[in-house]
Amino acid sequence: MRATVLLPALALLIGAVPLATQATERPDWAFPVTDKVQPAVPPDDGQPKTAPGSTKTYTRKQIDDLFNPPDWYPDIHPPMPQVVAHGEAPNVRACGACHLPTGTGHDESAYVAGLPVSYIIRQMADYKSGARKGSGSMTTIAEHISDTDVRAAAEYFAAVKPRHWIRVVETDTVPKTYVGPGNKRLRLPGGGSEPIGNRIIEIPEDEQVVLNRDPRMGFVAFVPKGSIAKGEALATSGGNGKTIACAICHGPTLHGLGDVPPIAGRQANYIVRQLVMIADGSRAGPSPALMQQVVKNLTIDDMLALAAYVSSREP
Ligand code: HEC
Ligand code: HEC
Repeated sequence: MRATVLLPALALLIGAVPLATQATERPDWAFPVTDKVQPAVPPDDGQPKTAPGSTKTYTRKQIDDLFNPPDWYPDIHPPMPQVVAHGEAPNVRACGACHLPTGTGHDESAYVAGLPVSYIIRQMADYKSGARKGSGSMTTIAEHISDTDVRAAAEYFAAVKPRHWIRVVETDTVPKTYVGPGNKRLRLPGGGSEPIGNRIIEIPEDEQVVLNRDPRMGFVAFVPKGSIAKGEALATSGGNGKTIACAICHGPTLHGLGDVPPIAGRQANYIVRQLVMIADGSRAGPSPALMQQVVKNLTIDDMLALAAYVSSREP
């Protein structure tokens, strides 16, 4: 189904929707910001790092070169266009640095593998126009990237096969964490645990793997007990009119429909952030307007539950 047909049809289906005005409080666990005080971590030894089954080695400095990020396993994704592998200095950093060559991304960025081409192009236009706020990096990139590169990146990520990336675990307690450089949540050195409360705590399955931008393994999203079932009820029935069943627009298995994006198996905190930002108007415009009816009566706890359910589906 083509976007141009689908979106107006959906707008008719759910009726005219007002633009977002509602102010929703931002839960700090879903919007991690690098802690001002950082725990002491051992300094990098400068030695090249390796990954099992990869012939490549990269030093920490090379790994963090956002114009030439590592490509540990070239065989597990299609050949990258220039913009994904290297970007366009000085303003367009390589997409593959933050989203990884596999498009699976990190908790603080986004999972972009398998998103529809037209959806990706629209997001870049929305970041550029300011209709979509939420990431300074994406706004700068969108302001400077050429249309040709937008299309090349969109076609690339749309063609990358989605892979399992998030393991959702219901629990009462979570490891103690802090937010390290780059808004990345990590285990607190020295360990310990604490009650989860009404939060999602999303951390790397293996910290070194994630810090090395190695796409071998993703994240575990700890969620409060009962979240997945609560989210499933809201997602599938709409919770007695509280929201709208997601499958109507995102497809029966939440793998997308036309240019409505897939949401299954994405980072749990990313899902919460988008629901909050659509509700508070930071993500606006004709397409997110279709989400207004969905989000306007949701509490943060509802969003948490929906994210737990949606992320626990296979991407
Ligand atoms: C410095 C890190 C960084 C780089 C480099 C980067 N991104 Fe992003 N990207 C992000 C973050 C962070 C988000 C989430 C922002 C938000 O919540 O709106 C994001 C979100 C996105 C989204 C929205 C995903 C969705 O599901 O709606 C798209 C599309 C995207 N990026 C495409 C790109 C492309 C194409 C490039 C390369 C030209 C790129 N990004 C480079 C950090 C980055
Ligand atoms: C009436 C149609 C409709 C329904 C129902 C709907 N969505 Fe959406 N949703 C959309 C559209 C359209 C977009 C893309 C907006 C854009 O292009 O910026 C979207 C985007 C999203 C996004 C952002 C995805 C991304 O990659 O950034 C999330 C998360 C989301 N929806 C979650 C949900 C959940 C959870 C439900 C069910 C409770 C739901 N949606 C129900 C139409 C809908």
